[in-house]
Amino acid sequence: MSAPVKIAPSLLAADFARLGEEVQAMDAAGADWIHVDVMDHHFVPNLTVGPMVVKALRPWSAKPFDVHLMVSPVDPLVEAFAAAGADILSVHPESGPHLHRTLSRIRELGCKAGVVLNPATPIVAVEPVLDMVDLVLVMSVNPGFGGQSFLESALPRIERLRTLIDRTGRSIELEVDGGIDATTAPRVVAAGATVLVAGTASFAGGPPHYARNIARLKG
Ligand code: DX5
Ligand code: ZN
Repeated sequence: MSAPVKIAPSLLAADFARLGEEVQAMDAAGADWIHVDVMDHHFVPNLTVGPMVVKALRPWSAKPFDVHLMVSPVDPLVEAFAAAGADILSVHPESGPHLHRTLSRIRELGCKAGVVLNPATPIVAVEPVLDMVDLVLVMSVNPGFGGQSFLESALPRIERLRTLIDRTGRSIELEVDGGIDATTAPRVVAAGATVLVAGTASFAGGPPHYARNIARLKG
């Protein structure tokens, strides 16, 4: 039997005035990872948080901090996020000139390394570096905002990546991000996803609902 799916609530949907408490509440509610969306108003339209916020949040949960970097150029920021306490650092191939070097650096810094594929990024972008990644993140929306609708085109891409990952014989997480709710979650899991990012669906209703929201996403 395969391992149960992991849920990574995206802080993008949290109450930004109470981020520490939100992280703590999600931890207590059964979140497996804490997903932090870092946006620079350049690689993507939105602007969110930097390493100082990750560092400030670190004491609020011992669960892995899954940091999704939507910044360009990404290389100069990788070290600061590792020092701030990120466990996983995921980068888009388009966010720097040398993906192989970026991933090597992330691993040298003691973090797990992920590659993120936008809806229009060919899957082959990750193939040459599959032996050095711990995670592949499939975007099921265009990055930049929470609350967007799930793109059906993600499903065959997840299936294809499942096959490629299985062929490596390595335990690489297959994560999906964007428009994940109780309806889309079982579909992406059936396609082969092992980690689900969910912002809107995790934080809906506020803290009293978090445990139920996560349980629902786990199916
Ligand atoms: C989008 C972010 C997502 C986003 C997901 O750029 O990477 O993590 O917060 O939000 P929902 O779950 O609301 O689609
Ligand atoms: Zn994300």
